[in-house]
Amino acid sequence: MTTTTPAVPDRQRHVEDELVRTVLASFHNTPDARLKELMQGLVRHLHAFIREVRLTEAEWQQAIDFLTATGHITTDRRQEFVLLSDVLGASMQTINVNHEATAGATEATVVGPFFVEGSPEIAPGGDMAAGAPGEPCWVEGTVTDTDGNPVPGARLEVWEADEDGLYDVQHDDGHLAARAHLYTDDQGAYAFWGLTPTPYPIPHDGPVGTLLDKTARSPLRASHLHFMAASPGLRTLVTHIFVEGDSLLGSDAVFGVKESLVKRFERQPAGTPAPDGRDLSGRSWSRVRFDIVLAPQRT
Ligand code: BEZ
Ligand code: FE
Repeated sequence: MTTTTPAVPDRQRHVEDELVRTVLASFHNTPDARLKELMQGLVRHLHAFIREVRLTEAEWQQAIDFLTATGHITTDRRQEFVLLSDVLGASMQTINVNHEATAGATEATVVGPFFVEGSPEIAPGGDMAAGAPGEPCWVEGTVTDTDGNPVPGARLEVWEADEDGLYDVQHDDGHLAARAHLYTDDQGAYAFWGLTPTPYPIPHDGPVGTLLDKTARSPLRASHLHFMAASPGLRTLVTHIFVEGDSLLGSDAVFGVKESLVKRFERQPAGTPAPDGRDLSGRSWSRVRFDIVLAPQRT
């Protein structure tokens, strides 16, 4: 196997090549062909990395210590490995690779660590904020398939941070707010009240935060509202919408922004009547439209 390593003497290169061959061969009898492909690919790339950067033993130990700390901080409620995958762009690259199969459908982006099962159901036009602080935002749209057919009864999960940049689950008191699920109507349409999204940092008090700090990277995410859309026979979509004009669109900590997901949130001055007649008590509000297209289920 060849590497891009500069100026490694021939004899040394042979020793290193030989080890790669031996490790690859150790997976030769893997009965599951896909597992074999994955493990041999991993070995090839891992060894190429070690050789390219001429990894020192102290650096390898540091990497082990980092992964150990990542494991220690991970619990049922905190997934530091997913966060690591996110800040390395691995989560988004996996989504990109798989998007090829869903041409014509709404693009996906990272799920993030704050989705939880068991959100309350809201009626069409209901308020998912449930008292979470922030500017009200009227969100409406449709769900269709890639042939343009409306999808009635699609289940939409929506969740977002409040204006202080916190999700309900970060309050540790068990209350649920700024998350809900609802269903599209007979025409495949939906509408609900949420909050105008604001920027917030990903959890950065653990090993991943230290990594961001040491590499002069910001933990901030561009403002967004999460969606999960599901309907039998169609591929479940996990995505967000982002706020047009947000200064963080180009530097999202987890590389989650896609141009097609950036939406105009139209600001409505205080006193502007709400679409459903809601009394907004003299507050400003915003509105956004997000039409969702679901891909066919993978065969
Ligand atoms: C989020 O959107 O909530 C999120 C996504 C990835 C990592 C951390 C947070
Ligand atoms: Fe989020």
